[in-house]
Amino acid sequence: MKIWATWVTTGVLLFAQAASASSAVDILLKEYRAAGAGPFSADAGQRMWNEKYNHAEVPVERSCNSCHTSNLTDSGRHAKTQKLIKPMAPSVNARRLTNIREIEKWFMRNCKWTIGRECSAQEKGDFLLYILK
Ligand code: HEC
Repeated sequence: MKIWATWVTTGVLLFAQAASASSAVDILLKEYRAAGAGPFSADAGQRMWNEKYNHAEVPVERSCNSCHTSNLTDSGRHAKTQKLIKPMAPSVNARRLTNIREIEKWFMRNCKWTIGRECSAQEKGDFLLYILK
């Protein structure tokens, strides 16, 4: 009986966490669609994630995987500060993709740093599907 109760509680918690990552993503995708973007593709997101970008100000190539690695379930390391970055995948880090403001803030910073410009609604939607997968 006790084991059963623990089981149910764990199941409910897992579900609640998964639901919050996907509900934040749902809200953002809706917003991006309203801006004319879509359909979105996790494959396109993965390609962009691993692409190497060269932009005028920087001598070295930059990529999303420079800090986050190309395996979303692994921890990353900040390319400049060497600080540890927790895994991106909501499946191993339940806090990921749960806070819309944080997501947009980091998209803004990281797209500018990596690609040299802001990401479009299409690109952000593709990244989100890839990270959520
Ligand atoms: C220079 C290092 C660096 C690069 C390159 C980088 N990021 Fe990040 N990213 C960070 C840091 C630092 C955080 C915030 C710390 C954390 O959440 O662990 C973060 C957080 C995020 C988040 C927030 C996720 C959440 O819900 O917590 C998203 C989304 C993200 N990055 C996407 C990207 C994408 C897409 C690219 C490539 C265009 C990229 N990042 C490139 C360092 C980087």
